[in-house]
Amino acid sequence: MFRAASHQWSGRIARMAMSPAQKSNGAMPALTRGAFALRSASSQRILRPALCASFHSSPYRLSAEQANLMKEPPVITTETITVGGQTYTKDAFSNVTPTILEKTTRQLHLIPTHPVAIIKDLIASTFPDFKHYDTFSPVVTTKENFDDLCFAADHPGRAVTDTYYLNEKVMLRTHTSAHQLKVMTESDKILVTADVYRRDEIDASHYPVFHQMEGAQLFDAKTAVEDIKALITRDLAAAGAASKAIQTTDTTVITPENPKQAAHDEAAMLAVADHLKHSLNLMIRRLFSHEKDLQVRWIDATFPFTSPSWEMEILYQGKWLEVLGCGVIQQDILKNAGKPDKIGWAFGLGLERLALVLFGIPDIRLFWSQDERFLKQFEPSKIQKFKPFSKYPACIKDISFWTPEKFHENNFCEIVRDVAGDIVEDVHLIDEFTHPKTKKRSVCYRINYRSMDRNVTNAEINELQEKLREEVVQRMKVDLR
Ligand code: PHE
Repeated sequence: MFRAASHQWSGRIARMAMSPAQKSNGAMPALTRGAFALRSASSQRILRPALCASFHSSPYRLSAEQANLMKEPPVITTETITVGGQTYTKDAFSNVTPTILEKTTRQLHLIPTHPVAIIKDLIASTFPDFKHYDTFSPVVTTKENFDDLCFAADHPGRAVTDTYYLNEKVMLRTHTSAHQLKVMTESDKILVTADVYRRDEIDASHYPVFHQMEGAQLFDAKTAVEDIKALITRDLAAAGAASKAIQTTDTTVITPENPKQAAHDEAAMLAVADHLKHSLNLMIRRLFSHEKDLQVRWIDATFPFTSPSWEMEILYQGKWLEVLGCGVIQQDILKNAGKPDKIGWAFGLGLERLALVLFGIPDIRLFWSQDERFLKQFEPSKIQKFKPFSKYPACIKDISFWTPEKFHENNFCEIVRDVAGDIVEDVHLIDEFTHPKTKKRSVCYRINYRSMDRNVTNAEINELQEKLREEVVQRMKVDLR
């Protein structure tokens, strides 16, 4: 998440500061995706078919030809990166790896029987008259991902340690908000679903690619108060008793830390905020309609592109889980979209996080499995409990080295991913110390190798570990111990 008053980039900063012991305790700061207790999902539930229309006329939707180009294997040479039929010249910023680029071809959210797509369709069906875009290329400009959304020039989210760059100006989107400006020029009610990419650590709940759904609704600033009152009255009458089935707590208030924008009329802004929370409460209630005692709470948040801003959390098996970020859209963004007389809200949610909970899926890597035992379990528009299949044995290897001056754990994890791909289940820092005389820091990481789909041999893992040792020395200039 792009949040926190200190302009930190997401929970990741907090997460990096966590000790391995904290991690194994399950302590987890808020994130758009992350570890949380998994419930045993309820029995099969038939959901309403999705109402997401297709909009072939949209200039921003990939044509069939472009979509096919997206499926072609990306190519990285020493000079260039080719993805989606486009070639980009590399520079000092380029840090995207073949393993990551390969993920751009998968498009999980477009496979109707995939849990990510099932959740996408279900959420879309709660916004039936919204224009839904779901085939945008993940390659965007830094202007689209950051500048257009009012990110400060020195925002940590721009760092090469957090973001995958093709070159200085072109990157893999880190959030679906990268498309907000474009789509808002087209419609006042929009949804965008897409794969997003963030450099990260490795464990059962973190993966460098995940899926988000963005939603936004705009109103005429002059009539927003009356228009919204009528909309909410209509919705509540339609939802009836069902809308009250889940307990919602909202103690947020407009404060100097989470302020109204100067450009906004207070009554209009409050009406928009009401409509935002009302729409998202209805959405989450429908998604968890089988959950008798689901509790939802709203907390304050900070994003560069909304003010005021909030996060929704749900209480799940005793832990508060962050589900989405949202807020009142920065008026400058609406001005740039050619809509200065509108006022509106936007939200962004992580689909894997909801799918893990709703389907009871224990490991985020399973979403990427090509194993039929995973893929054949699900049906379009149905939430059903994941049936675990036997795990293949793990193979554990440690690697120790003296860290260079500018050591960043994400860079190390990136090399692990690049060498071993999805065969790595997790990477944990198991030991570290600073030499009393030389002040040099030594770290020891434990790598847990386990395939989701097959038995791995010790010889094969030894070879990978040897390759990893070589790459770590070469790319990070470390001294192995
Ligand atoms: N883009 C934000 C994220 O990825 C979520 C968000 C979307 C917040 C829209 C506010 C409005 O964390």
